[in-house]
Amino acid sequence: MTPTAPSRPVLVGTSWKMNKTLAEAVDFVESLLAVGVPPSVDAFILPPHTALSVVRDRLPQDSRVRLGAQNAHWASEGAFTGEVSMHMVRDAGASMVEIGHSERRTAFGETDEDVSRKVAAALEHDLVPLVCVGESAVVRDAGSAESFVVAQVRAALAGVAGADSERILFAYEPYWAIGTGGRAAAPDEVAPIMAAIRRAATEVLAGPPVRVLYGGSVEEANALSLLDGAAADGLFVGRAALSATGFNRLIALCAGRSTPSAPLSTPIDREVQHAACR
Ligand code: PGA
Repeated sequence: MTPTAPSRPVLVGTSWKMNKTLAEAVDFVESLLAVGVPPSVDAFILPPHTALSVVRDRLPQDSRVRLGAQNAHWASEGAFTGEVSMHMVRDAGASMVEIGHSERRTAFGETDEDVSRKVAAALEHDLVPLVCVGESAVVRDAGSAESFVVAQVRAALAGVAGADSERILFAYEPYWAIGTGGRAAAPDEVAPIMAAIRRAATEVLAGPPVRVLYGGSVEEANALSLLDGAAADGLFVGRAALSATGFNRLIALCAGRSTPSAPLSTPIDREVQHAACR
């Protein structure tokens, strides 16, 4: 009889995007901690840079809530007005960093090359990159979603081939499914692309299958069908998790789900998390 792989916590995370004052950030974290995160879930929150250290200061040492930044520059320091480095977000408490969100790519002109530099810089600074990939409606309608997204994956990993697959996460976020006006995807629209991302990234990196989250108009009503139907390792949520109540409910909903690529039981970067979160 083949032994069953131990199941691994489902990742459930949220980016606050350009939202929340310091007081609102503290309220959110306090509500989250009051409810708690079950062991079957690894939660993460990506506040704006301004709130990283206040959130870090409120998370206990053994918190199951990982903290990350929404973006950071690849250079360590220097004359980059308005930018924040990987080193700086790490210093402020982040143990992960989101890279290449569609809003960065479309509104701020972030290229595949920028994404690749940021992935390499994140790893150099012991941050887990959460690399977002996805296609526009035009690309999907042309039937090229899979090749487009796989090209984004390969470009993102161009400078880090052979790196530890445990230290990199991907999120598939089709542009047409994100934000107000986005159309919620059906699991069967998402599943083949998720599988292609996992295959392509795992081919380039060393180690067990790369974990791939799904994001885009995720809410309570579709969370489990997307998680299960798209064979996702977790969910990356915007609007539906902007309130702590919404986030807590999604965490509770996902608790107890096992993930498809679950060859190991080691949570990502737990040591880094401990070092970074007081
Ligand atoms: P949404 O955002 O859940 O509000 O669609 C998702 C995202 O941008 O990551």
